Amino acid sequence: MGRIKVTVVGAGNVGGSIAQRLVERDWYDVVLVDIVEGLPEGKALDLAEAGPVCGYRPEVIGTTHYEATEGSSIIVVTSGIARKPGMSRDELLETNAKIVASVVRETTQRSPDAVVIVVSNPLDAMAYVAYRVSRFSRSRVLGMAGILDSARFRTFIAQHLSVSVEDVHTMVLGGHGDSMVPLVRYTTIAGRPIREWMSEEDIAGLVKRTRDGGAEIVNLLKTGSAFYAPAASAVEMVEAITRDQKRIVPCSVLCEGEYGFHGLFMGVPVKLGSQGLEEIIEYELSPQERTALDVSGQAVRELCKHVDHLLSKL
Ligand code: NAI
Ligand code: 2OP
Repeated sequence: MGRIKVTVVGAGNVGGSIAQRLVERDWYDVVLVDIVEGLPEGKALDLAEAGPVCGYRPEVIGTTHYEATEGSSIIVVTSGIARKPGMSRDELLETNAKIVASVVRETTQRSPDAVVIVVSNPLDAMAYVAYRVSRFSRSRVLGMAGILDSARFRTFIAQHLSVSVEDVHTMVLGGHGDSMVPLVRYTTIAGRPIREWMSEEDIAGLVKRTRDGGAEIVNLLKTGSAFYAPAASAVEMVEAITRDQKRIVPCSVLCEGEYGFHGLFMGVPVKLGSQGLEEIIEYELSPQERTALDVSGQAVRELCKHVDHLLSKL
């Protein structure tokens, strides 16, 4: 297999960590792009200089221009700003929608066959921006969140039970926000349902901690949000696609009837392979799970209405 070109836009915490994970695999050529002069160049050089020590060939370019991104197989979008004190969610949405729209326009016109993976927040709405602006088919526009949210739930369960995270399986669906839906009924530890391992009260506590997982890290870091686990989760998607792994993982994709959603980006279980989104896997949901997913869908729908309004003005 030849080397695979991946563009990562946004050379901040998440983008920088994604670039590091990719170059260390030694089969990706990475182009790191940012608007801040010197930042992508500096991180790329630093990553290249780690090559001789870590044993990879330093194929990494840092740039503030888009020419070098041409012909990428994957475009990962992490550019954006974090919510600042006093800034409303709507203001954040507006700023990041403009950033994501311009980045997607610049990258997709140079890499018309790429798969786009969006990381920027608010996640599901930004994936929708990427879909609208790129005009790619839905199989080639994906949002990263469910793998991260599921990884958090798995971590908390494993810590609570003092078992290996590898033996904990779950799916967190819905939008990447307060209303995400950890599927407790489909959560197993070594194949045994979670309800046979712990009380409803303990499960509810871990579900809540998962929903608040992003905020928990922000409160600890104070100057930014999580990036190691988000970067690892985005790279899992890159790997599943570029290595045609047919992984079944939760990602935000455009639902066109699946789970009863029409024209809405939502976190659902998908099969990822060389085509990007290859299939949406429909789990049977209890009435309670159904309601929770509908509530989450409504929250995303509100944001996407706002996106439609913004894009009509751009
Ligand atoms: P960061 O602030 O460290 O990095 C963002 C980078 O984007 C900055 O270097 C900035 O200069 C760059 N940027 C801004 N406008 C740009 C433009 N027009 N073109 C190119 N680059 C531009 O932020 P961090 O921690 O890396 O997070 C990035 C985004 O990912 C945020 O929106 C954050 O909320 C989101 N996020 C999403 C997660 C998820 O689960 N989907 C998890 C973690 C973060
Ligand atoms: C997270 O969940 C901030 O969305 C980001 O950590």
